[in-house]
Amino acid sequence: MKPTYIILILVLIGLIPLWANEDKLVIAHRGASGYLPEHTLEAKALAYGMGADYIEQDLVVSKDNHLIVLHDIHLDAVTDVAERFPKRARDDGRFYVIDFTLDEIKQLRVHERRDPKVGNVVFPGRFPSGKSRFSVATFQEEIELIQGLNKSTGKNVGIYPEIKSPAWHQKEGKDITRLTLEMLWEYGYRNKNDAVFVQCFEPAPLKRIRNELKSQLRLVQLIWTENNEALGIDYERMITPEGMADIAKYANGIGPSLNHFIPGLKDLFGLEKVSLVDLAHQNNLVVHAYTFRTDQLPGMIADIDLMHELFLINIGIDGGFTDFPDRMVEFLRSAKRTNGE
Ligand code: G3P
Ligand code: CA
Repeated sequence: MKPTYIILILVLIGLIPLWANEDKLVIAHRGASGYLPEHTLEAKALAYGMGADYIEQDLVVSKDNHLIVLHDIHLDAVTDVAERFPKRARDDGRFYVIDFTLDEIKQLRVHERRDPKVGNVVFPGRFPSGKSRFSVATFQEEIELIQGLNKSTGKNVGIYPEIKSPAWHQKEGKDITRLTLEMLWEYGYRNKNDAVFVQCFEPAPLKRIRNELKSQLRLVQLIWTENNEALGIDYERMITPEGMADIAKYANGIGPSLNHFIPGLKDLFGLEKVSLVDLAHQNNLVVHAYTFRTDQLPGMIADIDLMHELFLINIGIDGGFTDFPDRMVEFLRSAKRTNGE
C-alpha cells in the first residue's frame, strides 16, 4: 500500500490526531508567487487579498544602499537586465543587484523565474514569462503597500523580511542588517508583538540584532539541509537538542526546509525527524517550514492538501511558507470547520 494511503487511514481512524489549527500562520512565499512573478507588488497584493497572515520579502542591497525585494543577489534570473544593460555583468557573467542603482533597477522588467544559464522557465505552469509589465520593488514600497492595505481593510497582515547573504554584503561593503533594522524602525516595527518576523540563514546577524542592536523583534533562524562550510554554519547541529537550545538564546523560531521531514515521512513519520517540532517547542521556538508548492510536490505526495494535512496538522508545524497562499488559507479554514470550531 502507498505511504500516503496508510497515512490517510491513520488520520481517519484517529491514530494521528487532527489538532486545532488556531494560530497557524500562512506566510506568502515571495507573495502569491504561484500566480504572479515572485516579489512583484502585484504578487504581494494578491497574497494579501488571498488572506495570507504574513507576506515575505527577500532583501538585497543596491549600489546606492536601497533595500531591494529580490530573492537573488543577481538580477538575471527574474529580469531583463542582460538585454537592457548587456555590458554590466561581472566576470562570472552574472548581473549583481549591488552593481546597479535604484534608478537603473527601476528600468528593468520582471518576468517569471528562468534559469539564467539555459533560459528555460522554472515553473512552466505559472504566469507566462515576459507577459504584462512588472517591476522590481523596494522594501519601503512593499511596507507601504502592506501597511496601506492594513489601513484600508482594518487587518493586520505582517511582513516577513529575510536578510539575504549578509556576510557577502558585508564583504561588498554593505551593512544589510543595519539597513533592514533602520527601515523596520522607521515604519514602526520595534517590539516583539509587532507583526514582523526577521529571518536569516546566517546566525551571526540574528545574534547581532538581538545582542548588539538590542532589538526585541521576533527572529527566525532558517535551517538548510546542508552545512555551509564556507561560512562555518553547522545546520546539522542546529537540529540537535544542544543546537536548538543555542538558537533559543537569540531567536523566536526556526525555519526548516520541508526536506528536513521527508526522510521521516518515508518512514511513516520516523520519530527522529518529526521530533524536530517537539524539540523546537520545548525551547519555545515556533516552526515555520518552507516551501509549499502545488507544482513541486515530493514524489510520494500527490496532492497539496495532503501535504498541508501532514505538515500543519500531523507533524504540527506552526506555519508554512507557500507560493499558493489561497490553498493553505482554504485548507486551514476547512480543517477548522471539520473540527467544529
Ligand atoms: O525564507 C524561507 C524560504 O524562503 C527560504 O528559502 O531560498 O526561498 O529564500 P528561499
Ligand atoms: Ca526567503
